[in-house]
Amino acid sequence: MNLDAIPQGVVAGSIPLFAGHPARELLPINGLKPVIQAAWRAGGVARFLNYGDEQGNPQLIDFLVERLNHRENLGISRDNLMIIGGSTGGVDMATKRLTAPGDVVLADAPSYRDALHIFRDQGLEIRAAPIDEAGIVLADLKRALRQLAAKGKAPRFYYVVPNFQNPSGITMSRERRLAVIELSRQYGFVILEDDVYSDLRYEGAAPPSFYDLAGGERVLRLGTFSKTLAPGLRIGWLIASAERIASFVESGMLRMGGGANPFSAAIVADFCRSGAWEAHARWLRGQYERRRDLALAALQSSMPADVEWTRPAGGYFIWLRLPASIHVDDLEARAQERGLYFASGRGFFVDPDEGARHLRLSFSYVPLPDLQAGIQTLGALIAGMASGG
Ligand SMILES: Cc1ncc(COP(=O)(O)O)c(C=O)c1O
Repeated sequence: MNLDAIPQGVVAGSIPLFAGHPARELLPINGLKPVIQAAWRAGGVARFLNYGDEQGNPQLIDFLVERLNHRENLGISRDNLMIIGGSTGGVDMATKRLTAPGDVVLADAPSYRDALHIFRDQGLEIRAAPIDEAGIVLADLKRALRQLAAKGKAPRFYYVVPNFQNPSGITMSRERRLAVIELSRQYGFVILEDDVYSDLRYEGAAPPSFYDLAGGERVLRLGTFSKTLAPGLRIGWLIASAERIASFVESGMLRMGGGANPFSAAIVADFCRSGAWEAHARWLRGQYERRRDLALAALQSSMPADVEWTRPAGGYFIWLRLPASIHVDDLEARAQERGLYFASGRGFFVDPDEGARHLRLSFSYVPLPDLQAGIQTLGALIAGMASGG
């Protein structure tokens, strides 16, 4: 959501715990400036102000291929990766290329609401299965697949945020990933892996990606610089089979559009190749880990006993479950009167009523004192409502 969407008049003292944005003070403003200035001085800027390669900036492609192979031993080549206009651009492109209106896609319940929005824009039927602390519940996913098959329908893809999911903060276990890959082979659907948060892990080890576990077969994996650099640059990447990448690069949008954001991509490529991105991401992990720890401690000390929440090992989000007596709409109205904004659970479900007892808190955007104060206010409001106030 755009921060400007907060109603005028309450912005000054408000605490936007809904904002899934990087904090303004954590953007690498000083780090990017010399990179942009150097691009100007080198005289090459005219090249980047023109149309670019359809597959994206070649230096950035090479950097990402090398990094992914080095860190994850993925064994990809530059034919497996293209630059896109942020992960959202990849979800939109994959949806348009892989589906036609009326097709079915699978998602988690809850799932990232802007992806659900894209699927609705395309006129798709969304079948969602619930998640628990290890990811999608296999029994429910299998039931959905059997029901669809009985109606002669086959889902085109399963959309998943595998690490520190938006909105729940949950990471899908390796075992579940393997089981989903098995089902994807059995039922012939693609896995659309929206991996926007894996570079923001604060503890533990990452399970291998779907792309890795499936040997690259029938998986499209998305990454982005939005969470570890700056979302305004609108740069991300897509990894897939060489055939799939070639077919996307041949799309009308890229043929005519001259590749994804050539100017931003050139700046990002220089920033990455200088080592500055890795250093910035390392620093960011420390900053966000502090925010996460403070948010969890504030929840522990502020929430009544019957409120439950997730404990994410990375990413931006904590997912709260309210006591049965409290509807999120009532809580939201009271919170907003006090200048406190959170993301209602209702937006993250195909059937909004399923989210009536949930809300998402983002610890990425607001400064530490506001994070603490906001959670304390929320705890007091919930306690008051739970006791009939
Ligand atoms: C799961 C998920 N996908 C995509 C995005 C947006 O990424 P980008 O800025 O690269 O489009 C977000 C950001 O909130 C997200 O949480």
